[in-house]
Amino acid sequence: MRRDRAVSDWRERGDKRAAPSAGALYPMDVYATVGKDRVEFLEAGIYHYEPQGHRLSQVTKGDLRTVTSRIALSQMWMADAPLIIVITAKYRRIAVKYGDRGTRYAVIEAGHIGQNIFLQAEALGLRAGIVGAFDDEKLKEAMKIARSHEPLLMMPVGYGRE
Ligand SMILES: Cc1cc2nc3c(=O)[nH]c(=O)nc-3n(C[C@H](O)[C@H](O)[C@H](O)COP(=O)(O)O)c2cc1C
Repeated sequence: MRRDRAVSDWRERGDKRAAPSAGALYPMDVYATVGKDRVEFLEAGIYHYEPQGHRLSQVTKGDLRTVTSRIALSQMWMADAPLIIVITAKYRRIAVKYGDRGTRYAVIEAGHIGQNIFLQAEALGLRAGIVGAFDDEKLKEAMKIARSHEPLLMMPVGYGRE
């Protein structure tokens, strides 16, 4: 999708997002590790997706794909992907209304977001993978993920090997 189109879609939707969210409480955040010279217009670093404005903010500089792949129980194939997306949940945002059940809703929402990433990757002629095996605390520390955001899924995205 072209960026100007994406921004105008966001304006029309108001605060809504591309994935459903119980009570429209949006407990999820999306981060990404971007490799050096691997993604057009983005320098290597960690990014946080800002839904309001459909923007990325840079958290740190540097190519951390090897580090984050080691944290994913050394699944080093992940480090070949130009981009590794991480989906996190801040359970407190949803527990306010739904209590413990909010955890279930957040995990379901992570599945919706992950599926959107798979679909968007396919639409762009890319491939995506999904990884649940990683050390939560080490990943948070390496990617400067807010302490209250729990990483649920890592999704390497790139061109597949035929
Ligand atoms: C919650 C979840 C966690 C997963 N974690 C990993 C993982 O850590 N490493 C990996 O290589 N694949 C992981 N997978 C992918 C599965 O291994 C994969 O979906 C399965 O083998 C079926 O293959 P397919 O998705 O290509 O059909 C995960 C999938 C899910 C849904």
